[in-house]
Amino acid sequence: VLLKPYNTFGISATARYFAPFTNKEALAALLADSRVANHPRMILGGGSNILLTKDYDGAMLKNEIKGIEIIGEDNEHVYVKAGAGENWNGFVQHCIGQQLAGLENLSLIPGNVGASPMQNIGAYGVEIKDCFHELEAFHLLDKKVVKFNNADCKFGYRESVFKREFRDQFAILNVTYRLNKTPHFNTSYGAIEAELEHMGVKTLSIRAIADAVINIRSSKLPNPAEIGNAGSFFKNPSIDAAQYDALKGAFPNLVAYPLPENHYKLAAGWLIEQCGWKGYRNGDAGVHAKQSLVLVNYGNAKGGDIYHLSQQVVDSVQEKFGVTLEREVNII
Ligand code: FAD
Ligand code: EPU
Repeated sequence: VLLKPYNTFGISATARYFAPFTNKEALAALLADSRVANHPRMILGGGSNILLTKDYDGAMLKNEIKGIEIIGEDNEHVYVKAGAGENWNGFVQHCIGQQLAGLENLSLIPGNVGASPMQNIGAYGVEIKDCFHELEAFHLLDKKVVKFNNADCKFGYRESVFKREFRDQFAILNVTYRLNKTPHFNTSYGAIEAELEHMGVKTLSIRAIADAVINIRSSKLPNPAEIGNAGSFFKNPSIDAAQYDALKGAFPNLVAYPLPENHYKLAAGWLIEQCGWKGYRNGDAGVHAKQSLVLVNYGNAKGGDIYHLSQQVVDSVQEKFGVTLEREVNII
């Protein structure tokens, strides 16, 4: 099966076998099928955080479990459960429509609900771990449903157990979020304040924050429908105070944010831009002209071309700054 329509990078790789499923019984039946059982297999969502570097010699099982329902509430919260195959932004906008707060800063992130815990998706001062309640996942070998609460997921910056020790072992079936009846607005990210002002917003609301985030994202992130990409290709690296002091001395314009325990997070996009990559293009592989952290496919780049470019970027940032960039996108 040609996977070009199933990955936002628009890479023309194939899978030996490809099948969607809409409930866990259908998934169990697929796992028992010899075309799946005797080969590597992986769960696919919206395909917006993968880079296919070669043909996949196994089964790609696309999670299309649907449904959004309120499963409980207390004085302050409403618990909303969503099927893994629901579109993430559709789910966020649904919650905003119900006046349920907490996810508005995460508007317009591509992909599906089921992948949201995978790397603890985050943007504009919020991560899903701030509202995550629990999830149900199907163990692909034991064929059992396992519940994970917030602590079980070991969420970190673009990290969880599903991206690390349990990689490719579970299919996340549904995720429950704990949303606030009364909003706690988060406008800590400078660009949001500026955009709200630009929009002329007088009374803050979750709708206004979502609209501000949507405007900012639309102005600098490439739309995968127009240019293939998977968002930030690398993580923003964390360094200790000694390395920060040395770098800040050598590069006074260094963009960095303080972290707990005397560490600093560096803006990888700034490091990459300083190495001269912004807007670079070689064939159909390139570095986005408005956001250097995003690698792009202008049409017919191969996964290997994008990967090779990412290695050139890693090497040049290492050489100029002595900082090692780590890939954020899942390399397949
Ligand atoms: P996929 O790409 O389909 O899968 C990603 C990984 O998760 C794969 O390893 C896959 O095997 C696994 N997986 C997917 N679904 C399941 C499941 N149900 N059970 C088990 N494993 C599963 N991310 C951010 O955090 N913040 C951003 O601001 C952001 N901006 C982006 C902007 C653009 C333009 C793009 C293209 C991407 C951006 N991303 C961002 C990355 C991406 O949107 C997220 O990582 C998203 O959660 C991926 O969802 P998906 O359904 O497309 O996952
Ligand atoms: N910058 C540059 N040049 C660039 C890009 C960025 O100098 O080409 C500097 C600017 O100074 C800017 C700063 O870097 O102020 C931060 O840039 P931006 O606000 O665009 O955010 P980011 O750090 O590049 C991160 C996430 C995004 C998320 C935004 C908003 C990571 C790896 N990326 O990007 O997530 O949407 O913040 O919160 O943490 C994703 O994961 O795919 C993703 C898009």
